[in-house]
Amino acid sequence: MAERRYLLRTFGCQMNEHDSERIAGLLTADGYVPTEEAAEAQVVVFNTCAIRENADNRLYGNLGHLRPLKVRNPRMRIVVAGCLVQKDGPRIQERAPWVDVVVGTHALPELLDLLRRAEAEGPQMDVREYTEVFPSALPARREVEHHAWVSVSVGCDNACTFCIVPLVRGPQRSRPIGDVLAEVQGLARRGVVEVTLLGQNVNTYGRDLTVPGSSRRPLFGDLLRSVNEVEGLRRIRFTSPHPHDFTPDVIDAMAEGEKVCEHIHFPLQSGSDRVLRAMRRSYRRERYLEWLGAIRAAIPGVAVSTDIIVGFPGETEEDFGDTLDVVERARFDQAYTFRYSPRPGTRAAQMPGQVPEGVVAERFERLVRLQEAISLARMLEQVGSAQEILVEGTGRKGRIQGRTRTNRVVHLDGEHRPGAFLDVRIVAAHPHHLDGELAAGVRGAQGASERERASVAPRGERGVRGAQGASERERASVAPVTGRSGRRSADAPGR
Ligand code: SAH
Ligand code: SF4
Ligand code: F3S
Repeated sequence: MAERRYLLRTFGCQMNEHDSERIAGLLTADGYVPTEEAAEAQVVVFNTCAIRENADNRLYGNLGHLRPLKVRNPRMRIVVAGCLVQKDGPRIQERAPWVDVVVGTHALPELLDLLRRAEAEGPQMDVREYTEVFPSALPARREVEHHAWVSVSVGCDNACTFCIVPLVRGPQRSRPIGDVLAEVQGLARRGVVEVTLLGQNVNTYGRDLTVPGSSRRPLFGDLLRSVNEVEGLRRIRFTSPHPHDFTPDVIDAMAEGEKVCEHIHFPLQSGSDRVLRAMRRSYRRERYLEWLGAIRAAIPGVAVSTDIIVGFPGETEEDFGDTLDVVERARFDQAYTFRYSPRPGTRAAQMPGQVPEGVVAERFERLVRLQEAISLARMLEQVGSAQEILVEGTGRKGRIQGRTRTNRVVHLDGEHRPGAFLDVRIVAAHPHHLDGELAAGVRGAQGASERERASVAPRGERGVRGAQGASERERASVAPVTGRSGRRSADAPGR
C-alpha cells in the first residue's frame, strides 16, 4: 500500500505547537508520514489560534483552497483543531461542511477515533470543555532531539479583559507533579538537555492541585526545584508566566536552581495604571518595576522579555507616554509588541473608546523604535562576555545558531550538531542576535577590542527572525508568540 501522508499547519502559541507535536505523534503512530504538499496528503490538519484578528477568515480561506483538492481526491480527510474550534466548532462545520473532523483542544486523544468514525459515518465533531488527558501524555513527533515542551498546566484563571485564552482553554488545571517529573526524566534519558515547562499562566502551577494525605499543594517553586534535580537535563525554561505570580519562592527557586535559565518573560501589557486597571491586570506600574528590581537583584545577569499591547480601548496619549516611560525604565532585552485587537466575547471588545487604527499605528512605531534602541544597547553590553550556548541548528548564511542561557541568539562559524554545548565569546551585537567565536580561538581578555565594537551593526538592522525577534510585518499584527528557532509554526513569531 502507498504511504499515507499528512500535512499539518500550526497557527498559534507554544501550547498550540505542543498540541501539534501530539497530533503529529498520533498520526505517526498510526502509520502516516509528513508531507508539505496538500495534493498528496490523505489527512490535512489545521491547528488554529484565536488570538489573532481574522483567524476565522484565514481558516475559511485555507479550507476553501482545499475544497477542489478534496473533490478530486474524495479520500482526503480534513481536520480542524485548536483554539478556534473551542470557540466556534459548530460554525466551522456549518460553513465548511467538507471538513471531516472538528476536534477541540481537550479532545485531541480522540483524534484517530474521530478519523476512523469519519470514514464510516461522515463528519465528526468533539469539542469538550474539560481536559482529561494532558497533551504531554500522548505520543509525540518532536522536531528536534535536544529540546522538549512539557505541559504542566492548561487553562487560565485570570480574566484579562483583552484576552480570549480563558474562553478557549478554560480554567486552569495542573498536571500532578509526579507525572511531570516522570515525563522530564524520560525525556532526559532519551537525550533531551533542555525543557520548556508550558502553561497559560505557568507560575500559578499547582494552585488547583491537592495531594492525597497532605495539606500542602505543590507549587511552581516546588516544581522548578524538582525538575532541577533531573539527571542529564542541563537547561530549564518556562512560559508564560504572569508578573503577579513571581512570588519570592519562585524567584528563590530560579536563583538556586543551577539548571533554571537566567531569562524571564515578564508581560507588562501597559505602563499606564488606568489602562492596567481596565485590562484587569493586578499590578500597577511602580509595583511592576519594584518586582523587576527584586528579580534582577536575586538573579544576576537575568534577561527580561515582555509583551506590550498598544491601543487598548481608551488609551490616551498620556497613557501611552506612561508605557514609553516604563519601557525606558525597565530596559527590557526584548519586547513583543501587539496592536490591540478586539476579540469578540472579551470584555474589552465591548468597551467604549476603541482607538483609531492610524493612532495605534503611529504609537506602535514609536514604541518599536524605542525598544529597538534599548534591545541593541542591552545586546552591546554582552560584547566581550563568555557564554555557554546550546546549538539549535543552522541560521542565516549557513552559520551555527545557538542560544545562551539568557535566551539570546548567537551566530558563529563552524559545524556542530544541534544539542551541542559550546563555550563562545561574544564579538558583536545586533538588536536581535549576537555574533560569537568559539572560546578556544579567542584571546583571554574579557573586554571587546576596538575592531569588535566597530563591527556592531547599525541601529535598525534586523537580526535573524524566528528566534527572539519578530519581523516588522509580524509585529504589526496581533500574533501569539511561539516556537524556538528552527521550529517555526505557520505564521507566528518566536519568543
Ligand atoms: N498566557 C500569556 C498570553 C498569551 S497571548 C500571558 O499571559 O502572557 C500572548 C500575548 O498576546 C499577550 O501577552 C498579549 O500581549 C497579547 N494579546 C493577547 N490578546 C490580545 C489582544 N486582544 N490584542 C492584542 N494583543 C493581545
Ligand atoms: Fe490569562 Fe495571560 Fe490571557 Fe491574562 S493574558 S487571561 S494571564 S492567558
Ligand atoms: Fe490558543 Fe495559544 Fe492562540 S492558547 S488562542 S493558540 S495564543
